[in-house]
Amino acid sequence: MKRVFSGIQPSGEAHLGNYAGALKNWVRLQDEYECIYCVVDYHAVTQPYESAELPGKTLDMATSLLAAGIDPEKATLFVQSAVPEHTELAWLFNCVTPLGELERMTQFKDKSARNRKNITAGLLDYPVLQAADIMLYKAEYVPVGEDQVQHLELSREIVRRFNTRYGDVFPEPQPILSTAKRILGLDGQAKMSKSIGNTLPMLATAEEIWDGLKTGVTCSKRVRLKDPGEPDECNIFTIHKTFTPEEKQMELATACREASIGCFDCKKVLAANIDETMAPIRERYLELKGKPEVVREVLAAGAARCRSIAGEVLAEARAAMGFFK
Ligand code: AMP
Ligand code: TRP
Repeated sequence: MKRVFSGIQPSGEAHLGNYAGALKNWVRLQDEYECIYCVVDYHAVTQPYESAELPGKTLDMATSLLAAGIDPEKATLFVQSAVPEHTELAWLFNCVTPLGELERMTQFKDKSARNRKNITAGLLDYPVLQAADIMLYKAEYVPVGEDQVQHLELSREIVRRFNTRYGDVFPEPQPILSTAKRILGLDGQAKMSKSIGNTLPMLATAEEIWDGLKTGVTCSKRVRLKDPGEPDECNIFTIHKTFTPEEKQMELATACREASIGCFDCKKVLAANIDETMAPIRERYLELKGKPEVVREVLAAGAARCRSIAGEVLAEARAAMGFFK
């Protein structure tokens, strides 16, 4: 079976953008591939954070992933810092990665513009660690949102440079995108993001979902109720793509273009559908929250399994590069 790898940072609560862009696919792919999923805490420390909160946030993200449907019987779930091989392979990859490629990464430019006082080498190096995450398991498919496509292009570039110099060790990884690969924040301004704080949390209650959605910006063409809208330009409609059955989506799109439904009613349908998907996830989350030892066991078993795969692949990379044994 081909391998899938993906990661999520424990930098805050998982949100609907994470679910729509990535996690829904993580769950779906478990049945078709050998999946390895990672809470990437080494990535999370590339931006300002509270060290006292990191362990709790890491456990909480793992709990949310299990609640969302990651099944430890089918997939492997672990915490990145429990497998030290990730940073060692990142060092090896650093030595085949051109500095200019890192400097032109959009996320690096955005994050450093947002936080000029803390532009660290770690922030610049972030995509190299990401390439190492994937290649330690020789994973070929990576379910992510659109914002990660550029990082994956760089992963492939790193693999090509490594393989050209040292022999064919790694496969080139490809992204797997969802139909809702880029969800905007409710303000409609920027990508929904933990670090911007414009999110609708995945575990929000029905009331919180509605409170958020009702303020959500829709397409700019609908100033008055009788103006026809354009679903393809509407963030609310993009969210429908994850939570609303396809037939109903088409019905809503037509009604929006004909101005026979208003944004308020369209949002009501969405709120109900989000809650239908999320209510059982919320319930499982609360149940697992009361049993942290269960989550810890899953993570420990996941890390043990990953260390054994990662150790072998790292040894192969070290041998290819000619290190003394
Ligand atoms: P992060 O929260 O940055 O660790 O991202 C975890 C996963 O969610 C990655 O695959 C991202 O591409 C995806 N993701 C994050 N934000 C969004 C968004 N607003 N829309 C779609 N996918 C997203
Ligand atoms: N950079 C990714 C994000 O913020 C998280 C991540 C780290 C990742 N390592 C990965 C995603 C490896 C896919 C594969 O969304």
